[in-house]
Amino acid sequence: MTPFRVGIAGCGTVGSGVVKLLKENASLIEKRIGRKIEIAFVADRDTEKVRKLGIPADKTYNDGLKALSAECDAVVELIGGTTVAKRLIEEALKRKKHVVTANKALLADFGRDLFFLARENGVSLKFEASVGGGIPVIKALREGLVGNRIKAVYGILNGTTNYILTEMTEKGIDFETALKEAQRLGYAEADPTLDVEGFDAAHKIAVLSSLAFCRWVKTENVYVKGISDLTPLDIEIAKEEFGYVVKLLAISKVTDGNLEVRVHPTMIPEDHILASVNGVFNACLIEGDFVGETLYYGKGAGEKPTASAVVSDIIDLALGNSYSVPECLFKEEELKISEPDEFISSFYLRFTALDRPGVLARIGEVLARYNISIRMALQKGRQIKGAVPVVMTTHPARKREVQKAIEEIDKLDVIVKPTFVCMIEEL
Ligand code: NDP
Ligand code: HSE
Repeated sequence: MTPFRVGIAGCGTVGSGVVKLLKENASLIEKRIGRKIEIAFVADRDTEKVRKLGIPADKTYNDGLKALSAECDAVVELIGGTTVAKRLIEEALKRKKHVVTANKALLADFGRDLFFLARENGVSLKFEASVGGGIPVIKALREGLVGNRIKAVYGILNGTTNYILTEMTEKGIDFETALKEAQRLGYAEADPTLDVEGFDAAHKIAVLSSLAFCRWVKTENVYVKGISDLTPLDIEIAKEEFGYVVKLLAISKVTDGNLEVRVHPTMIPEDHILASVNGVFNACLIEGDFVGETLYYGKGAGEKPTASAVVSDIIDLALGNSYSVPECLFKEEELKISEPDEFISSFYLRFTALDRPGVLARIGEVLARYNISIRMALQKGRQIKGAVPVVMTTHPARKREVQKAIEEIDKLDVIVKPTFVCMIEEL
């Protein structure tokens, strides 16, 4: 059989991992699949980096777009972002090359157009590495669970923030130091605010939701809140007083016939399996109507795990498996997306109040007026500039009511700082 020729555009963290894997495991792959995978070209702005990986000069390019003139069967886009990467993928598809990408930001916002373009040109667009790093979660959802009606997807989908939260929780390391280390380890996006503010996880849950619920979901359809205003105090109170662990959780589920897609810091019971997913590890819990709950776990970022997922797509293509997204995504959309105001959840509320008699009663009165039922309440003795944290958890309530109640409470003369709010998922 003729070798399957791949061109790699972008040789940063993931691209260099792919080159290394294809070289180091070349004979193993050939033995397994009965076909040789050949590197047709590698392009990066820094050609020296490419040469150091042992790629000959005649296969080295300083621009992915220019490299498209080289002969190949598939192009692997590992540049990132939504400008050059988009142009490169469009151009490759129009030239009838299969494309493999790890670019969830691009898929979340332009996936629909790109998959239609791939279809028009009779080629495939594969994207296993776009969600969950090395975890084969796309394949599991698209193929392994294909016979199930999906009920819900819960995921810890961002390695950087999970790494930061773990370092803060377990080692007391501050946010900035943990983020710098995540960047050094190659986990973070080129713009790390995408990780920290929840957008990277939003891109990923948009991709998973599209596959799971047969409806294109874009970033704008996802309610997003990041971890930047989370404090060590809330992490500590959640664990010590209520038995919750805080995770940046991505959730996608059908509620009252509408699709609810959200990413936010979430308190989950410490004995739930997702609570023990730490560091750069990701996990995704997918519930199907026949299979029940299934769980996928592994390293969610970094050179080697991500390269593993990219190479699985390349091999699929070499084997002639070009299945990419479900057929229903090329038809009319049916499911409506819920407005964030309509979400129903239990809440953790931390008020910062003056330490005076009657404060709890005044807060309680406002909550009661909005029909929000308190499950537990406590006052932490710790004074912060004359004020104390008053913490409550609620029974399930509508987000709109909670928001309105908090706006009112924050105007009380006994409240000295905006209230910190976190949703709780009992799972
Ligand atoms: P990097 O920034 O490490 O690598 C991207 C590389 O592409 C850089 O070396 C960049 O050069 C180069 N580049 C920029 N423009 C061009 C161009 N026109 N032609 C060729 N090369 C170019 O990013 P990552 O490897 O971390 O990420 C790549 C993609 O994979 C992104 O979409 C990311 O979201 C995704 N991803 C990353 C994971 C990770 O763990 N890092 C995990 C899963 C997905 P320069 O630096 O000079 O701009
Ligand atoms: N920045 C991403 C993360 C890379 O930390 O999860 C993997 O997609």
